[in-house]
Amino acid sequence: MDISRDAPRGFIRLDLNLFQIDAAVDFDIYIVPEGTSVPVLYRGRNLPFDDDHRKRLSVGGTFEAFIHEEDARDLDKYVEEHLDKIIANPNVRTAQKARLLYDTSLRLTAEVLYRPDTAESLRRSGELVRSTVSYILLGKDAFHELLLIKAHDYRTFAHSVNVCGMGIALAQAVGFEGRTELSDFGLGAIFHDVGKTRISQDALTRPGPLTDDEWMRMRQHPRMGYEIMSARLDFPESAKAIILQHHERLDGNGYPEGRYGDDIHPYARIAAIVDTFDALTTRRPYGDFLDTYAALEEMKQEVGSHFSEDYYREFVKLLGR
Ligand SMILES: [Fe+2]
Ligand SMILES: [Fe+2]
Repeated sequence: MDISRDAPRGFIRLDLNLFQIDAAVDFDIYIVPEGTSVPVLYRGRNLPFDDDHRKRLSVGGTFEAFIHEEDARDLDKYVEEHLDKIIANPNVRTAQKARLLYDTSLRLTAEVLYRPDTAESLRRSGELVRSTVSYILLGKDAFHELLLIKAHDYRTFAHSVNVCGMGIALAQAVGFEGRTELSDFGLGAIFHDVGKTRISQDALTRPGPLTDDEWMRMRQHPRMGYEIMSARLDFPESAKAIILQHHERLDGNGYPEGRYGDDIHPYARIAAIVDTFDALTTRRPYGDFLDTYAALEEMKQEVGSHFSEDYYREFVKLLGR
């Protein structure tokens, strides 16, 4: 949620345009009357709040609403359920859309990665990914807004969200244009590291090198992830290919299968690029990170051996435009 400016203590500030969609809200809505700083109740949670209310408020010069922090979960639910409409709404600012998409993605990913093989998880991820596709298709400003948020976020699940958003953009840039194929790609990207949920938290977050044992286990995360998602018959094959093959390299020195060249699924080759880029450029609790230019320079050394040349070139263009 956009809380860049101070909201009254205990409240969350909202852009009133969020309520342009005609949907019931499940939380109390407050406004702060002009010249005061104390929120007063405007509509109770059981009463509809729709476009008419929003318009009336805007005419009176009110463009923001507030909700209680304790209603944050209900707000999250509302945003998740209506994300696609919010993204399609031309009156909501791109920066606000990026923030909502990102926050919803983080929250949802954190939940589904620990119970990935349920119908409910798959349905919610599917909807999220479709919203992400709609968002990326808004154009280059949208992509860059997402990059701005990405750079400063090292929360645990941010990586899956980053690989999904940047990956959909790269997949589109290299010619995968159908919404279905982009959504399948996005699903694989969200879950690409799901196998890591079977690796100890300590090994994942501790600074310094892994023990031989931990490293062996770490190299199995694509295969473990593949097995987890194979339990679901409705999970797309091409999405599973990302999970299994995102650490393969063109020269056959990757893992877990040591696949070579074209034998690696194109989606997995796209994911490999954004996966590496995100790992190199994201701020972490410890250790260094690179800026965009330095990361691309470092990756350039591995074009042909690790990364596909044409995909790498498109990625450079995407970041530069
Ligand atoms: Fe991975
Ligand atoms: Fe990854």
